[in-house]
Amino acid sequence: MSADKTVYLKDYRPTDFIIETVDLIFELGAEMTTVGSEIRLSRRPGSPADAPLTLDGDSLELAGLALDGKPLAPERYEAAADGLTVHGLPESGSFTLTVKTRINPSANTQLLGLYRTSGLFSTQCEAEGFRRITYFYDRPDVLAVYTVTIIADKESCPLLLSNGNLIEERNLEDGRHMAKWHDPFPKPSYLFALVAGDLAMIEDQFTTMSGRAVTLRIYVEHGKADRADYAMDSLKRAMRWDEERFGREYDLDIFMIVAVSDFNMGAMENKGLNIFNDRLILADPETATDDDYLRIEAVVAHEYFHNWTGNRITCRDWFQLSLKEGLTVYREHEFTADQRTRPVVRVDEVKFLRANQFPEDGGPLAHPVRPTQYLEIDNFYTTTVYEKGSEVSRMIATLLGTDNFRRGLDLFFERHDGGAVTIEDYLKCFEDATGRDLSHFALWYHQAGTPVISVQSAYDEAASTLSLTLQQKTPPTPGQKEKKPLHIPLRVGLIGPNGDGMEPSAVSGGERTEDVLHLTEAEQTFVFKGIGARPAISVNRDFSAPVKVNFEQSRDDRMAIARFETDLVARWDAINGLALQALVEATAAVRAGTPISVDPALAEALIETAGDETLEPAFRALALTLPSELDIGRELGRDIDPDAIHAARRTVFGSLAREGAERFRQLVDALSGDTEFSPNADSAGRRALRNTALAYLASATDEPGAARAAYDAATNMTDMIAALRILAHQFPDAEETAAVLDDFRHRFAGEPLVLDKWFGAQATIPGEEALERVKRLMQDEAFDALNPNRVRALVGAFASSNPTGFNRPDGAGYRFFADFILDADKRNPTLTARLMTVMRSFEALEVGRQAKARTELERIAGHETLSRNLRDIIDRMLK
Ligand code: ARG
Ligand code: ZN
Repeated sequence: MSADKTVYLKDYRPTDFIIETVDLIFELGAEMTTVGSEIRLSRRPGSPADAPLTLDGDSLELAGLALDGKPLAPERYEAAADGLTVHGLPESGSFTLTVKTRINPSANTQLLGLYRTSGLFSTQCEAEGFRRITYFYDRPDVLAVYTVTIIADKESCPLLLSNGNLIEERNLEDGRHMAKWHDPFPKPSYLFALVAGDLAMIEDQFTTMSGRAVTLRIYVEHGKADRADYAMDSLKRAMRWDEERFGREYDLDIFMIVAVSDFNMGAMENKGLNIFNDRLILADPETATDDDYLRIEAVVAHEYFHNWTGNRITCRDWFQLSLKEGLTVYREHEFTADQRTRPVVRVDEVKFLRANQFPEDGGPLAHPVRPTQYLEIDNFYTTTVYEKGSEVSRMIATLLGTDNFRRGLDLFFERHDGGAVTIEDYLKCFEDATGRDLSHFALWYHQAGTPVISVQSAYDEAASTLSLTLQQKTPPTPGQKEKKPLHIPLRVGLIGPNGDGMEPSAVSGGERTEDVLHLTEAEQTFVFKGIGARPAISVNRDFSAPVKVNFEQSRDDRMAIARFETDLVARWDAINGLALQALVEATAAVRAGTPISVDPALAEALIETAGDETLEPAFRALALTLPSELDIGRELGRDIDPDAIHAARRTVFGSLAREGAERFRQLVDALSGDTEFSPNADSAGRRALRNTALAYLASATDEPGAARAAYDAATNMTDMIAALRILAHQFPDAEETAAVLDDFRHRFAGEPLVLDKWFGAQATIPGEEALERVKRLMQDEAFDALNPNRVRALVGAFASSNPTGFNRPDGAGYRFFADFILDADKRNPTLTARLMTVMRSFEALEVGRQAKARTELERIAGHETLSRNLRDIIDRMLK
């Protein structure tokens, strides 16, 4: 709340003391857990001889404090819930501080620190959760060797886990037992983990490239062990891939993953003991969709990859978060591309970036990949730090080439292993390994906002030259009014009149490597020589830079790219862009009360692509998927009327559906009846195309029969939920829909993760009645306002993905959401602050809704007792 809590990058300085080792003893009790912490410390050379030791704390109760075994006199220290200061410590040599705290894991609804839900003790310490366990230097640049003893009741907690290797285990009196773990790798406190409870487990083995055997274990709820196989398979593939692609070998004898059902985010890379949201581990064909499988593979790999990028080399301070997250997302993306089909994977990344990061970068919460200040670090686990950060590493790879990128990364691992470093340290490795100066490029880390590139072209037939004038402009963002030109690697392709690619004999006007133009100035003209005919120009192939491109191209040129581009990402983008333009025009027509006409050439192109057997089904499904209502709103950018968008999209969708009904029926028939389920990319792509076609077919026939039949015939969750969504969204009032929703509810009564799909499908049914439906669903006994997955599936989906329902003109959606946020904020601020961000673009709404939204945001802001997380977000949104 008060500005004095703001943390600034410029204030960074090392701690006065160094922690060498930490010995923790947990005596676990549901309501009362005692934590004994023995820290071996010494004064950092050069730090003032009288500097006190100041340790972080959050909601702690001190139960004992001793120096080298002797209790400390009260005048030697000050203990508060949020910190501990100890005076008069030795000037030189090491000493041991013993701290005892008491905590209540059952009361910990924040799910940060040590918490107990459904009988399971588990931890989440990143970013600042360890200070809720014991007083400590809870910051990433303090690396220590941990030994952890866990004592608990053996019957309710047969399983006692922490980081590293198990070194001792034995029974104690009174039905208790203990386990002792030792992690030989010095680590920051945010990577500490503890799990205790009663879980099922699957085990496997991995032999590393140097021949060491590693035990792999995945722990899940009893009865769900057979749903952990895909996660295990993904883990082994990730381990092998990291060896082959980046030369990274695993370093402990055991690697464990625990799936927990109450978890604020996706997963956490604790050393040797990853903790996961169970929705990112559990999968079988009957309960998980292809999308779930994809996410599991990606996140298991992501957390595993952190072992080198994050754990072995960590961040000096939290401003450097993208050092580990951006790089690890990039590694994850490369892994996924290698496991599946590269361009399809890339299109998904582009869609995600545009739908999530661009709006963040263009709104009140915009911040650089490497921020310079924060009030609450929890709020900086953003798509900018993660996904834009990944794009920045991808651009480095584009600038340097794959081999040079690898050389730079090798140097990074060699030079900084065991260190806590900065983004500058990272960049320096690429410079030192390759001799390339990245000082201009580095601006990508410091300047927020999505650059807009305006393109103009002129073809000179007599001279056979094509000039391409590129202008870049990055809009102002909070705290950064003036922007400098960036170094932007832009892949550009030329498509000749017969559809073939064209190669210039020379290019002047700036650096060019392969098809990459290096745009480094505010404006630059590249001249392509030896171009015998006027080409169609494809800009930002493969989405080589995370930018917006402003290029007024003829429809014919865009069609040529949509038909002939060999880069499938650009090809998809052309198709998608044509569809988006049609939808924007249709929205304008709805608002003007004029009829909507759909360009027959667009319809033909889409339908043709859908049936093009030379393209893989997954790509055809992507091409056939119309931009969402949210995409259309973002494209408009201002004066958004969700009802007009909805009406427009529905009309365009219906007209395409009727136009292509024949083709859609063929596709549905041809692609139905795969009996053996395989989660691989090829099978998933076939299901995606089939279900996309089914949605069109349902609209073309305007009756629920086909979807109902598809639901009944479904043998896997992907097909089942697709059919259910078609029914719910296109035929919300049909008897068939009621029957299917009811069937699903009963069939999966004991499966919270599956019911999340049921909540989500209903939360996103468009229209005014959505709010009442959501309120009704909140009364369902499967809903639990304390569980983040349930909240996101129902309330989150409603607010983020139901534009007409949430943005009801009377503002009732906003009021409901504000009430929910205010209530939930008392329990789980990480969750509420994150949820709140779905309203960050409220100023793009038409004035009536905008005013209603603002009223509710101001009502929230007016509360005195908001969490720091929510206060930070709401204040920035209203600035
Ligand atoms: N480091 C975790 C990951 O791999 C996420 C931790 C999120 N923490 C938070 N405070 N939001 O991405
Ligand atoms: Zn991560």
